[in-house]
Amino acid sequence: MDNYSKCQQIIKEQITTNYLKNIFNIDGFLLSFNAKTTELIKNKNVLKNLTKEEKTALIDYVCDSFVNTLYNDNQYINFTKKDIDDIKIVYQKLFDDIESGIEISQIEKNHYDRITQVLISTNQMIVELNTNNEKYVHTFVCSEYSAQFQIDLFSLDLDKLNEPILDVGCGENGNLVEYLLSQGLDAYGIDRSHQDKPHFQSTNWFDYQFVENHWGTIISNLSFSNHFIKNYLNKTNIEQYAKTYMAILKSLKIGGKWYYAPSIPFVEKFLSQGTYEIVNIPINETLSKTIITRIR
Ligand SMILES: C[S@@+](CC[C@H](N)C(=O)[O-])C[C@H]1O[C@@H](n2cnc3c(N)ncnc32)[C@H](O)[C@@H]1O
Repeated sequence: MDNYSKCQQIIKEQITTNYLKNIFNIDGFLLSFNAKTTELIKNKNVLKNLTKEEKTALIDYVCDSFVNTLYNDNQYINFTKKDIDDIKIVYQKLFDDIESGIEISQIEKNHYDRITQVLISTNQMIVELNTNNEKYVHTFVCSEYSAQFQIDLFSLDLDKLNEPILDVGCGENGNLVEYLLSQGLDAYGIDRSHQDKPHFQSTNWFDYQFVENHWGTIISNLSFSNHFIKNYLNKTNIEQYAKTYMAILKSLKIGGKWYYAPSIPFVEKFLSQGTYEIVNIPINETLSKTIITRIR
């Protein structure tokens, strides 16, 4: 195995070692470097022999693994592009510490202090949720739904769907978009967990450019509105969500529709009646879905 693949393998195992461990535990620190990571740090040659490009690729890899592990465990965690750059700096500093030859226990402490700081400054909600004596963090795992489920939920008539179609928070597999494409429709999906490929963009919805007057149909099942509600209840990122909500609405063409669930009554009540037609349809006793049509 070459040096780069060896490092990748050790990173994977290291992430498994600390999987779900609560970094904010008040009784004592639970995360640690495992034996293979310790060995890698001691045996400086492996890291030293990596090229500059390999080191950059390794930082991207460990940062991606870190971010995606957290997203998978708690769908309400959010990292913007800037946060991800800050996380890369944390790993760059880890590499610098390793190269500087300081004690392993100090390298470990510096690293977890920096990780803790980055979480505190980016996701206060998980700090509050996990500052306790639990050994493992609270998880909020997200599911994906079949295309048929989403078509039925929103009563979509595929023959009449206005194109192009955008699924905001389309899921890692983009089930609905894949199905719409298979039916010959001009559909696109964005999601931070989907890979970049034709018709799909891997992006945070806060970083995505919603072009005005562009989309015929926008769909978001249990994604944008669900996260907006969660953040509203936690009093976090409300302005960012409100701005993006308006940007999504403005990206509809006149006559275009945005279908989403669950409804967001605390925002919908402020929309201009002359510009948007809002229809709320109950799903069950507590939840409803919303269809907004841009009328001018
Ligand atoms: C419950 S899943 C629903 C997926 C899909 N709409 C479906 O019904 O199968 C929520 C999706 O929102 C995505 N998501 C959450 N926060 C996001 C963000 N800030 N930017 C982009 N996608 C996000 C997650 O990656 C996840 O795939």
